[in-house]
Formats: sequence, C-alpha cells, structure tokens
Amino acid sequence: MLWENKLQRLHLRGAIAAAKELINEAIAEKLDIKNFSSSNTFRVTDLGCSIGPNTFLAVQNIIDAVELKYQSQGHSTPEFQVFFNDHALNDFNTLFSSLPPERKYYAAGVPCSFHSPLFPNASIHFVFTSYAVQSLSQVPNEVLDKSSPAWNKGRIHYSNASPKVFESYAAQYAKNIDCFLNARAQEVVCGGLMAIIVPCRPNGPPYPQDTITETMESCLSDMAKKGIISEEKVDTLNLPIYFASPHEVEAAVERNGCFRLEKMEILPQEKPSGNFSRGMVLSSLIRAGMEGMFKNHFGEEIIDEFFDSFHKKLDELSKFESGNGGSLFILLKRIATS
Ligand SMILES: C[S@@+](CC[C@H](N)C(=O)[O-])C[C@H]1O[C@@H](n2cnc3c(N)ncnc32)[C@H](O)[C@@H]1O
Repeated sequence: MLWENKLQRLHLRGAIAAAKELINEAIAEKLDIKNFSSSNTFRVTDLGCSIGPNTFLAVQNIIDAVELKYQSQGHSTPEFQVFFNDHALNDFNTLFSSLPPERKYYAAGVPCSFHSPLFPNASIHFVFTSYAVQSLSQVPNEVLDKSSPAWNKGRIHYSNASPKVFESYAAQYAKNIDCFLNARAQEVVCGGLMAIIVPCRPNGPPYPQDTITETMESCLSDMAKKGIISEEKVDTLNLPIYFASPHEVEAAVERNGCFRLEKMEILPQEKPSGNFSRGMVLSSLIRAGMEGMFKNHFGEEIIDEFFDSFHKKLDELSKFESGNGGSLFILLKRIATS
C-alpha cells in the first residue's frame, strides 16, 4: 500500500534526521583523515540500505560532512565511492534507477549478508547502517526443536516466553554481532568510523518484555481462533530479530577489541505527524521489514488483515505510548591493534 511506504520512509527519515547532527559531529571530531588523506578515494557503505530514498539522504549527509572536514583541514576534496549493501533479494533495480541524478559519487551494489566479509582489507572509511543490525541471520535452532527445553510453542518471539528461549536468542545475537564486527574490523581503515542506528531495549531485566512482538502474537492468536490461520503455523513462526541492550552492545565491542565506542545514545522518539497514529507508523515500519517473511509463512491473503489488526491493537495500548525501547545511535572508531 502506498501510504504505508510513505509512512515507513517518514518515520525512518525522522530517525535519520535525528542522527544527522550526531554524524556531522562524529565526522568533524572523530574521523582521522590524516591516516588516509593521501588516498584520493573516500569509501562509504550503507549496510542494509533497502531501496531508498532514506539511504540517499544518509549517504549525502555523510559526504557533505566529509567534504567539509577535508576542506577545513586544507586537503583537496577526495572522490567518493558508495557501496549500497543489502541481501541479494533486495530490489537493487529500484535502488539504482532512483539514484539522485546530481550525486557526486560512484555507486556500486554489494548484494550479500553483512554478517560475512564484504570488502577488501582496510578499504572502507565510513560504515553507516540503520534499522538493520537487529535482524538475525536465522531463528535459533533450539526454539524450533520440539525436543529442546527452548522450544517456543505458541509464541513467536522471546517476549513472555521461557528464559531458555530468550537465552537462545541472546546467544544467536552474540554470534551474529561478533561476525558483523569481525568482518567490519578487517574492512574499515584505522581512524575510520562506523555509525549504527538500531532499535534497542533498555538495560535491565534479564528476561525482557516486548510489547510490539506480544501484540503481533496476540493478533495471530486471534486469527488462529477464528480459523483464518492454523495454530500449527503460529507455533512454527519465530521472528528472527533481537533488540540488544546498550550493555550488550558494549560487551560485543569489547569482545571484538578493534573498535573504540566513541558514543552511544538513545535517539529522541519522533511523534507521528499528520493523521498517522503511532500504531499506524510502527505497524507500517515493521511491515517493511517483515512482510516477506509473513507472506512466506502464512500466505499473501492474510497479510492486510494481520497488519490492519496489528496497528489497531497498537493504538489501543496505552502503555505502548511510553514505549519499552527506542533507537540507539552507536559510533565506533577503528583503532590500531597490536
Ligand atoms: C527496516 S529496513 C531499513 C532500511 C534502511 N536502512 C532505512 O533505514 O531506511 C532493514 C533492511 O536491512 C536489510 N538486512 C537485514 N539483514 C541483512 C543482512 N544480514 N545483510 C544485508 N542486509 C540486511 C533488509 O533486507 C532491509 O532492507
């Protein structure tokens, strides 16, 4: 639906705009251009870029800030090369046919999972990624295994599930974030930066609740009760996403050892604009990331009804307004290691 695409973009654009100042500041204060100003090419990548236009805004902002930094330090402006990364099934045709015509960079696509190596050693100067690193490479095996104590019967995520389920998800996240950071550690030049925007949960209770996934689960359960989908289908769905806490991010950076955590802060939550309720905005945002998976699992015919009831339920939840998570801005700098 068209309005949904518009909503997703508006919401994400809000967060990217909120991160804009932080990125400008990061480039002005933390990017070590003396380490690589002899190279005339500055390479940027957006990991999990989707199809635009948010990626174009983010990339342009980075390039403008880098240009300013080179000029202010008396260097001539480098040439820019931008690598747009997403899964191979991403619609790269739409992405590349809508590249801004006035762009001053060379553009290339990198269709591959960012959990694996993507670039030659020490070739990237700035990594950007927004709303993508929460995706897991797979649902943890144990939660699908009927003989395991972590079998997640009747639930679609770790929220409100047994502690074993959460522990399996947390272990899968740790594996994924370690692969992600290890690959980037090889690829990013010393003095280069990585800016990550990701939904998070607060530090705190060991077995977190997540209103959003619980609401999804309740919509699916209602549909199963009405016979629209089978209970077995609900039992076999588990969402491959994980909302890490700031402490978990810190621990992952420490395990990796090649980056310094320069900044980590919660971005201010945008109030929905116009006639869009928060439930509408969030359900459309989640639909952008998960529609394909829901279609594969339940079939296309239930999708509109599911997301419609999801947004209505989200709107009904007053506790939801206070939120139990947010978006985290993380700035990492590649440091020299012995
Ligand atoms: C919610 S969208 C965010 C899109 C865009 N970054 C933005 O902020 O507007 C998440 C994107 O991350 C991509 N993604 C998820 N896991 C990925 C992975 N392992 N490797 C590459 N891309 C991934 C998805 O395909 C999707 O396009």
